[in-house]
Amino acid sequence: MAITINTLRDRKQKGETFSVLTSYDATFAQIVSEAGVDVILIGDSLGMVLQGHDSTLPVTMDQMVYHVSSVAKGNRGSLIMADMPFMSYGTVEAALENAAELMRSGAHMVKLEGTDWMKDTIHALSERGVPVCAHLGLTPQFVNKFGGYKVQGRDEKHAELMIEHACELVAAGADVILLECVPAPLAARITQAVQAPVIGIGAGADTDGQVLVVHDMLGMTTGRKPRFVKDFLAESGSVKGAIEAYVAAVRDRTFPSEEHTFKA
Ligand code: KIV
Repeated sequence: MAITINTLRDRKQKGETFSVLTSYDATFAQIVSEAGVDVILIGDSLGMVLQGHDSTLPVTMDQMVYHVSSVAKGNRGSLIMADMPFMSYGTVEAALENAAELMRSGAHMVKLEGTDWMKDTIHALSERGVPVCAHLGLTPQFVNKFGGYKVQGRDEKHAELMIEHACELVAAGADVILLECVPAPLAARITQAVQAPVIGIGAGADTDGQVLVVHDMLGMTTGRKPRFVKDFLAESGSVKGAIEAYVAAVRDRTFPSEEHTFKA
């Protein structure tokens, strides 16, 4: 049966996890979907892993539309989440127009990076039938404001602010929250505080779902390997086996373990 937003809500209510993995083309989408991954994310990480840029900023709407429509063709029942690229949601009007294009290309949900300034945009999208995931914590489109890729919410003031923003964005209509590179205790507090399902990457084992970039979990990380990455191919021997092992490890909460987690 196809995965919907209701599936994710249901899992949260029952205390069951769900798995998310990036894909950018039809072949990977089919393998990932058939391996049991619940949500396929067409991340703007494609700017780094496919295009070789040192950030996600150069990714365009046309490129996202191309990859979303490719993934939609290979998908076999997973929920498709598409990133809105840098500055494609700078105004409410731009967000509505660009989200519509991603939805027409096959996305079931869009993902936006930011904090409380996105409330009106999320409300407008949600009111018009576009499910939204709000990405908080280390939001890579803000790398130039952060001065690098750094764990966020380490001190109590910033932790409190992140909890507040997550609650406000859910109240504005966000269906899902995604937390990247935040200390595990903070991710657990946010997961408790909001009714919406929470996905984590580098956010510990207590979020409702987990996400990784597919290249990373297949041991294809170039450059420094982030702490939260596990190479599932090393112990599986095939791409399909590695993805199935990831799904199983997320389901039984053996991934992420302590070694993949920021404690503070
Ligand atoms: O672009 C992406 O792949 C992402 C994940 C790292 C969460 O946003």
